[in-house]
Parts: sequence; structure tokens; C-alpha cells
Amino acid sequence: MVVGKPFLTVEQIQRRVNELAGSISADYEGKNLLAVGILKGAFIFYSDLVRAIQTPLSVDFLIASSYLKDNSTGQVRIHYDIREEVADRDVLLVEDIVDTGVTLNYLRERILMQGPKSLRICTFLDKKERREVDVPIDYIGYEIPNEFVVGYGLDYDNRFRNLPYISVFKKRT
Ligand code: IMP
Ligand code: MG
Repeated sequence: MVVGKPFLTVEQIQRRVNELAGSISADYEGKNLLAVGILKGAFIFYSDLVRAIQTPLSVDFLIASSYLKDNSTGQVRIHYDIREEVADRDVLLVEDIVDTGVTLNYLRERILMQGPKSLRICTFLDKKERREVDVPIDYIGYEIPNEFVVGYGLDYDNRFRNLPYISVFKKRT
């Protein structure tokens, strides 16, 4: 297994996270923002993002899994659910990467049933060409081609999450 050179560098990541946080700060001025990080993958992006957002917010998390190694199972399991009140809040779901869209679509519909005032989605990476389920995304860090990537919170088999940059992952055959 090989993890190569950066596909997105630390500097590129930092710059884009700050831009996203700027847009979010402007859009949520005076609102009741609840930022929900989807674990585990979003943990690093989430913590960088919320620290760069200038408007008051509350934090919560959701642990979901839909992936086995590098193949989507198409099944979403919730291991930890949001504990904050969602009704009447301006909820922002923060995800690491959108691939088929199955995970986010499932989570989005689940949260909408709890009656938030608004619900938006922010993802650091978007593999648009892999989309199977159409899910509206409001903030996108980078659109990337159909490659399996690791680092900056993203994993292969729960490894490589601590790489400070994003790298393309290739299995040695
Ligand atoms: P989806 O339900 O197919 O959109 O899958 C989304 C989830 O799959 C993400 O939250 C990631 O956990 C995982 N995933 C998708 N693509 C990658 C990748 O390239 N690297 C690491 N994890 C990925
Ligand atoms: Mg994830």
C-alpha cells in the first residue's frame, strides 16, 4: 500500500477552509447555528472549520458509517446520534467527503424529520462523478476526481487519518 505525495497540500487545505468559514460566517450572522460534525471522517476538517467561523455556534456530532474498506456498502448505520435539540435550529452538517451521496441523503432526511429551521450541508471534498443519490450541497471545499483519497481525517481501514494533507491512496497489487 502506498500513500504518495500531497494531492492537496496543507496550505491549499488551510486556504480553502478559511474561505468556507468566511462564507458560513456571513450566511449565519444572527442565526442559531448548530454545527454537526459527521464522525469519524470529518473530525479534523470540522475542528479547523469551527475555529475559523466568526459567528456564535453550538457543536454536536453524529457517528455514521457506510463504508467497508474502500467499497460502499450502501447501508448507513448510526452509532451516535445528535443530542442537541434540532427543532428550530439552523443546522449545518459537516462532512469529509461526498461520494455516492447515500450517507448524506440518509442523514439529511433523518434530520429534516426533526424540524430544523434550516439545514445546510458543508463537505470538504466532493467526488461528483460518483454520485448515485442527488443531495443538495451548499458549501464544497474541493471537487476531486474519482480517486480514493486519505489524510486530513479521511481513512483507509481507519488508517492515515492523521496525515496533515490529502493524498491519493493506491493499493499495491
Ligand atoms: P457515500 O455515502 O458514498 O457518499 O460515502 C461517503 C463516505 O464514504 C464518506 O463520509 C467517507 O467516510 C467515505 N469515503 C468515500 N470516498 C472516500 C475516499 O476517497 N477516501 C476515504 N473515505 C471515503
Ligand atoms: Mg465519513
